[in-house]
Amino acid sequence: MWGPSVLTVTLLGLASISNGVLAATAGCGKAGSLNTGVQKLTVNGKSRQYTLQLPVNYNSTHPYRVVFGWHGANDNMDVTVRGTLVQPPGSFPYFGLQPLAKESAILVAPDALNKAWYNRNDEDYAFFDAMLAQLSAGLCVNEKQVFSIGFSHGGAFTKALSCKRASSHRGVIILDGGGPIDGSSGCVDDPMAALIVHGVSDGIQGGRTTRDLYVKRNGCAATNAREPVANSRTPHILTEYQGCKEGFPVWYIAFDGQHWMAPWDGGSGNNGEKTFTPAAAWRFITQFQ
Ligand SMILES: *[C@@H]1O[C@H](CO)[C@@H](O)[C@H](O)[C@H]1NC(C)=O
Repeated sequence: MWGPSVLTVTLLGLASISNGVLAATAGCGKAGSLNTGVQKLTVNGKSRQYTLQLPVNYNSTHPYRVVFGWHGANDNMDVTVRGTLVQPPGSFPYFGLQPLAKESAILVAPDALNKAWYNRNDEDYAFFDAMLAQLSAGLCVNEKQVFSIGFSHGGAFTKALSCKRASSHRGVIILDGGGPIDGSSGCVDDPMAALIVHGVSDGIQGGRTTRDLYVKRNGCAATNAREPVANSRTPHILTEYQGCKEGFPVWYIAFDGQHWMAPWDGGSGNNGEKTFTPAAAWRFITQFQ
């Protein structure tokens, strides 16, 4: 259902040399041992699954960025893959990033046990590790370009991963993050690039608290970030924090709305064609070259 995509050749692999070493993985150069579709693996004795979306013209010698998309509670990986829950149906694949990523990213939609990221005994951290290991072994991955994006409970889990798996992540995107998982203790000095998107009528204090966690971690200057007034139908407001540690930006988007993963300016509810979140998220991700 993805259709042909335009081939986009990027230089990101070459440009992301860090410490003089290209962060390409063992899977570079291997003929495709992993293909687009549902992948199964066993983690801590439990059967787990995720959906993998490779670039249509996957090039086994090109190190790709990887974006993990974590669904919300009571959802599953199909919600991420097909963008169901968002109108019109199918307009929001992989949080709307697939149409923007085209040939330049490996996209991953993990599936929760019992439809939420309860992370019992850290089993969801282990799931993340197992997926990344499988991708790195079988595909050409740029390990310096791994991102997570999550909505709601998946946003909360993304926040937890940004701490507990900080070294595996270049950046995180948290859409209306909330829920029982915190996982943010113990990394107050660990910088992490972050984009936080939150509705002003969705317990905005939670969004501000999450944002301030990264403002602190990244040493950004305090800013009085503007927010649209609730029910004003005025556009979302992006604040890019200043003075952050080099390479570790914090972006904060407040929008007039509720618990929506695909909010749009001037309207209510989810709209996969009009939402501003994919473009903002993609601009955030692609600033790291
Ligand atoms: C495959 O990727 C490598 C490394 O980025 C690049 O040099 C090569 O030109 C690519 N091949 C094609 C057919 O795009």
